[in-house]
Amino acid sequence: DWTMEAYKDEAIRKIREQVGDGKVICALSGGVDSSVAAILIHEAIGEQLTCVFVDHGLMRLNEAEEVVGMFREHYNLPLIHADESELFLGKLDGVSDPETKRKIIGGLFIEVFEKHAKEIGGADFLAQGTLYPDVIESVSFSGGPSVTIKSHHNVGGLPERMNMQLVEPLRELFKDEVRELGRELGLPDSFIGRHPFPGPGLAIRCPGEITREKLEILRKADAVYIDQIRKHGLYDEIWQAFVAILPVRTVGVMGDGRTYDFACALRAVTSVDGMTADYFPFSHDFLGETATRIINEVKGINRVTYDITSKPPGTIEWE
Ligand code: XMP
Repeated sequence: DWTMEAYKDEAIRKIREQVGDGKVICALSGGVDSSVAAILIHEAIGEQLTCVFVDHGLMRLNEAEEVVGMFREHYNLPLIHADESELFLGKLDGVSDPETKRKIIGGLFIEVFEKHAKEIGGADFLAQGTLYPDVIESVSFSGGPSVTIKSHHNVGGLPERMNMQLVEPLRELFKDEVRELGRELGLPDSFIGRHPFPGPGLAIRCPGEITREKLEILRKADAVYIDQIRKHGLYDEIWQAFVAILPVRTVGVMGDGRTYDFACALRAVTSVDGMTADYFPFSHDFLGETATRIINEVKGINRVTYDITSKPPGTIEWE
């Protein structure tokens, strides 16, 4: 009989076999996938693993502090906190093409890892929380011609010069299976239940040019939206929810003044594995209350829309 416990033991055995007495460096993003991968690998090879949390300046409100705090306090994982936000935001300055953004972020991730790998005296392997849907969606439509929809920054061969092999223990799993594996590894439900967050972070929720001003506004709006969802007890019914800040300013009125601020879109979907998705049927009361709160509480936004596109034909993220 197939059980997650047996899967875990087998995965640990495979990691030990692949890694031997080599050193592994792991990209910890704070998401469920990379966290489960890191804890699994740590269980397999202990101190041979070093985790690096790359703060690309594209995290949500307080997220970097929370993630680093949690892993340092509650888990015994060797963890480097790399604040590289200046580097990433500098290189993204003026860039608006979605694929170019992803390539820049993906490339910098590799550079940053290389730097930290050198600092700890070299690593032989790079671990990633790549899931099965990431693998197939980057490669082809099943049965059809090979077409790239979006290049996931965490998938794809590493440059030869890095001389590191990939360790990807979740490559065969769907999201729900990763969560089950996380439970098997003793992760708390509150953590396992977190919505997925993409590697390129807020960059792909900020269509068009990324500016610090837009990121700041986006963080605040997103925090209000997620707070609303939690207060209404809807968080666990939703696969993923976030705000996208739109590259357009619109006219509004507030008090006796005219405003000219950004519009934003709320996104919330249900899904089993992220491959297909339906928009979440919020009540009109919820949407109205949320729009009012965002406009009142977030300076810089004066218009709120709700995205009712399913996947396909839309994707979950805006870029
Ligand atoms: P899309 O937008 O392609 O998203 O419908 C499907 C799921 O994948 C996440 N996503 C990413 N995750 N790196 C990641 O780690 C990426 O580059 C990336 N792009 C999208 C997205 O948040 C959703 O859960």
